[in-house]
Amino acid sequence: VEQLARAELARLGLRPGRTVPGGVELAATTRQLYVANVWMRTATRVLVRLGSFEARTFAELETRAGTLPWDRYLDGRPATYRVTSTASELHHTDAVAQRVARASGSAQARTTPPDSPGRDGAPHDEGAPLAPLVVVRVVRDQVTVSVDASGEPLYKRGWRQAVAKAPLREALAAAALAATGWDGSTPLVDPFCGSGTIPIEAALLASGMAPGAQRSFAFQAWPSFEPGTWASVRAGLTAVPTETSPPAPIVGSDRDAGAVDAARANAERAGVSHLVRFERAAVSDVGPPTWADGPGGPGWVLTNPPYGARVGGPDLRDLYARLGQVLGARFAGWRVGLLVADPVLAGHAGVRAEELLRTSNGGIPVRLLADHVG
Ligand SMILES: C[S@@+](CC[C@H](N)C(=O)[O-])C[C@H]1O[C@@H](n2cnc3c(N)ncnc32)[C@H](O)[C@@H]1O
Repeated sequence: VEQLARAELARLGLRPGRTVPGGVELAATTRQLYVANVWMRTATRVLVRLGSFEARTFAELETRAGTLPWDRYLDGRPATYRVTSTASELHHTDAVAQRVARASGSAQARTTPPDSPGRDGAPHDEGAPLAPLVVVRVVRDQVTVSVDASGEPLYKRGWRQAVAKAPLREALAAAALAATGWDGSTPLVDPFCGSGTIPIEAALLASGMAPGAQRSFAFQAWPSFEPGTWASVRAGLTAVPTETSPPAPIVGSDRDAGAVDAARANAERAGVSHLVRFERAAVSDVGPPTWADGPGGPGWVLTNPPYGARVGGPDLRDLYARLGQVLGARFAGWRVGLLVADPVLAGHAGVRAEELLRTSNGGIPVRLLADHVG
C-alpha cells in the first residue's frame, strides 16, 4: 500500500519522499500535515518525527530524548509510548518507554491505542479520549522518536457505525479502489457489500469528498495547534463541489438484510446516499446496473467475498464458482477485482490474471486479484 499512499500524497500536492516498509516519508508544513490527515484515504496514521539519535545506554537515551521539542506536542496528559527495538543494546522495550516518558515529562497512560501491535481489533472505549501516542523505534542503536498526529486510526472515518460480519477497513477499500485505477467514470458493483465499505469509499472518491471531514485528529489537542491554519484547511473541504448525481452507478448488494440496512445507514452518515444504491440480493441474482443516469458499463466488479477464516462455511468453492458463472454470463467486457485471503478460491471464480495488491486486513493477509471478464 506504500506506493498507493505515495501517489495519493503527490496528488494532494504534497511532496512525498521515499517509501519505507509500512510508510512514506515526507517533509511537510503544518498546513500540509493537516491536509494529509484529513485527505488521505489509504493511510492509517500520520506520525511527526521529533528526532533521531544514537543511544546505547539508558542515560544516553534519557539525555537525548530530553532535548526533543516535547512541549509542542504533549499537553501534560499521560501518553502511550509504543516502542520497538531490533539489533540494539536497548532491547528492553518497557524500560525504553519508561525513560522516554520521563524525558518527555508526560506519564505513561495505562491504555494502548486500538491498532497497537498484538491488539488489533481489540475493543476500545469509544467514549474515552485517546491518550497521545509516542512511537519510539530503536534500530541498530539508532532511536527515532515520533508523535502521532492522527489519534484514532485514519480508517475510522466516523461514518461506519453499523457493521456487518467481517468488515473491511475503510483504508483497505480505498487502497483497492486506487489499485484498480477506477476513477468514478464507469459503474462499480460490489455483490458482497456487507456494511457497504467499498461502495461508500467509491462514492467518497468519485465525488471528491474528504474522507476525514467528519472526524477530529490528535493534532487538534497539541499546544502548537494552529486553529487558523486548520480552519483554512477545513474551508477547503466544503469548497469542493459535490456532485448531485453520480458520475456512474455505484451499487452494492448482499443477501443479508441486516448488512444492507447497515450499508444504507452508513452511506447516509457518510453523506453519499444519493451516489450509491444498496439492494438485497444473492450473488446469483446480481447483474450490471439497469438504470442509466450516468455512463453505462463496462465497469468494475470490485468485491470482498466471504473468506474462509472469517465468514461462511469451510468450503466456499461453490460460492466462488457461482460468482464466476454470474460474471461470465452477465458481465462480459467488465473487469473484476477480488479482495481475498485465498488465491485458490479466487481461481474458482476464474479470477487469476493479476495481483494488484498484497496487504493485511486486521491481521489476515489479503490480496487483490484482478482479471478481465471474457
Ligand atoms: C467478507 S464480507 C464483506 C464485508 C464488506 N466488504 C464490509 O466491509 O462490510 C462478505 C459478505 O458476503 C455476504 N454473502 C455471503 N454469501 C452471499 C451470497 N451467496 N450472495 C450475496 N452475499 C453473500 C455476507 O452476508 C457478507 O456480508
